[in-house]
Amino acid sequence: MTHISSCTASTLKDAATSLRSGNLVAFPTETVYGLGVDATNKAAVVHLYQVKGRPSDHPLIVHISSMANLDKWATEIPEYAIELGRVFWPGPMTLILPKTNLAKDFITGDQDSVGLRVPSHPVASALLTEFEELGGLGVAAPSANRFGKVSPTTADHVFEELSGYLSPTDLILDGGSCQVGVESTIINCTQNLPEILRPGAITATMISDVTGLQVNQLSFGFNKLTIKAPGLLQSHYAPKAKVFLSTTPNSGDGFIALNDISTPPGAIRLASPKDNKEYAQILYQALRLADNKKLPNVIVIPPTGDDLAIAICDRLEKSAYKS
Ligand code: TXA
Ligand code: MG
Repeated sequence: MTHISSCTASTLKDAATSLRSGNLVAFPTETVYGLGVDATNKAAVVHLYQVKGRPSDHPLIVHISSMANLDKWATEIPEYAIELGRVFWPGPMTLILPKTNLAKDFITGDQDSVGLRVPSHPVASALLTEFEELGGLGVAAPSANRFGKVSPTTADHVFEELSGYLSPTDLILDGGSCQVGVESTIINCTQNLPEILRPGAITATMISDVTGLQVNQLSFGFNKLTIKAPGLLQSHYAPKAKVFLSTTPNSGDGFIALNDISTPPGAIRLASPKDNKEYAQILYQALRLADNKKLPNVIVIPPTGDDLAIAICDRLEKSAYKS
């Protein structure tokens, strides 16, 4: 049985060695927990896709300890991408860049670009540094959930979701609850202007402030989908409970809203975040709670604003029940 390990200097060293040997290591990042694998080890990546239950044409993000390793994986990097990296890395941002030969098709889902991220969580950072000291070049890590399900924000969530699929040699590192709570902002940097493929904590305004450029945004509605970022598929981030947005709950339904919105009679309050930042932090945990309580439905009142609210609404639209 895979076990959960605390994060001491020696367990981090062991985890890095284990990654180099081709095992999987789930680890905390500031956004959500990732399921890591040596990004150059094809057999290990195949195992990762099996554990996740993810189609192999869906690309993985490669995690590196610093920008120093960027040009091992990416080429023809536009100046605006360098600026973004300097300002927002380490942090909750993924850049899609033209790939080098190091980024094999089994990482990129046959695309000619690669996703790269320098995470800021101290455990992720220490793990990547150890891994690189052992000669590793990058750790591919999708969110540590089964394909289409809610991303995990604690080590226990990873265990609940994946322990039945991981091998005994795989490992889960426990670094507490994730601070951001929704996945990184994904920015396509293969064109003249940056384009947000998945909204997150780094917003369009922040990107245009740093680069001085107009930021293209995919419409995050249901009709303008692109296979480039399968996180944009219609049904994603979904718990077992049916998620309904802005409807009136029936008695026994779960209810999630900002804390200034009172609980309708008979509804079961699952979360009362005080602001949008806390909303993002606890959203996935609250959706999991609905399943733990075996609630059939959960009614969510989405937040408003142009900050993390955009990322939250994006995930909620995808998790929402489609009849
Ligand atoms: O916050 C995060 O980004 C977390 C943590 C663990 O770093 N990771 C994460 O990975 O959310 P994942 O695999 O669950 O979602 C990555 C998304 C997918 O929708 C994938 O299609 C997209 O990134 N992606 C990766 N490489 C890409 C590429 N070359 N072009 C377009 N999209 C890409
Ligand atoms: Mg994911």
